[in-house]
Amino acid sequence: IVPVIAIDGPTASGKGTVASRVADSLGWHFLDSGSIYRLVSLQALRSGVAFDDAERLVKIASRLDVTFDGEEVVLDGEDVKDKLRQEEVGNGASKLAAIPAVRSALLDRQKGFRKGPGLVADGRDMGSVVFSDSVLKIFLTASVEARAERRYKQLIDKGLSANLERLVLDLRERDERDTNRAVAPLKPSADAVLLDTTALTADQAVIFVLEHARE
Ligand code: CDP
Repeated sequence: IVPVIAIDGPTASGKGTVASRVADSLGWHFLDSGSIYRLVSLQALRSGVAFDDAERLVKIASRLDVTFDGEEVVLDGEDVKDKLRQEEVGNGASKLAAIPAVRSALLDRQKGFRKGPGLVADGRDMGSVVFSDSVLKIFLTASVEARAERRYKQLIDKGLSANLERLVLDLRERDERDTNRAVAPLKPSADAVLLDTTALTADQAVIFVLEHARE
């Protein structure tokens, strides 16, 4: 059975960076499960579907025509990698991710990323739901302020506009929604290793995960 390392945590905790670097060092596959929720969000925005329209969102989720090609995320033939990072798309993803039927519709697609020699998966429920038999479960956290600053830098580096105070408010709202939803709420599973990255660099977090992976 193909081993999985699950890296879960709240928005902007650095999961994505850490998980993809761990995957690179191990030579394993990488799943950014949030990008799948973001793809549904982008498609919904484009087709004018509301983020609470369960029926139409499930249709979008089951019909997504997407391929992950290295860094590129190709949706209906178009590379949408940068578009997926927009805050508007992330906020929509967080809303539709609260709908149980949407989550179920995306389950098999996520499980399909499990291929030899191994998979590093990042998200909210990788260790608790999608890959509950993961060999290692990491729950990354960081203070709201640290996360807002990281997100701010990411957006500015991409040449996008950003407002730090607004980001803090958005993060709190996103945490609130991710934590309090009825299905797959954001919380560490009992067997997860907690890692607070507030005072850590990405490199230090990667080393921490790799050390646990060796055990
Ligand atoms: O880190 P950030 O919240 O900006 O983005 P993300 O990881 O790309 O996820 C976008 C949204 O999708 C999150 O706010 C979650 O609500 C949702 N999500 C989820 O519910 N389950 C996952 N496994 C991954 C993401």
